[in-house]
Amino acid sequence: MLYSEKVMDHFRNPRNVGEIPDADGIGEVGNAKCGDIMKMYLKIDDDVITDAKFETFGCGSAIATSSMATELIKGKPVSEALELSNKAVVEALDGLPAYKLHCSVLAEEAVKAAVKDYYDKNGIAYDADQFAFDDHDHE
Ligand code: FES
Repeated sequence: MLYSEKVMDHFRNPRNVGEIPDADGIGEVGNAKCGDIMKMYLKIDDDVITDAKFETFGCGSAIATSSMATELIKGKPVSEALELSNKAVVEALDGLPAYKLHCSVLAEEAVKAAVKDYYDKNGIAYDADQFAFDDHDHE
């Protein structure tokens, strides 16, 4: 089978879809390869992600990876969410076909963009390198 059961599950029943109206951080990113876009909302209390939701105009793999990414970062400190790689999300989904790996990058980037927004809004200093996306890692 092309897609794992976990991918199909998160695609059919995505977790945490929607908007957080009073989000502390919002990240919107686009995938240059296909034009799909993703918006990530984070609620952050005391440096812990208490809620995460996403909206996407993306393919099934983008939906499944975003769904899994929100599940993985909820309840975690912001610093851990920043370390979430697209590889970790793909592993948690029991894999994606190689030509769909770029879709998982959208979820990772959206989480990072939302954290960056949170840092910016709250005047928290950060190292810009944390938000530099390394294309090599993503392919
Ligand atoms: Fe665009 Fe998957 S094809 S995110």
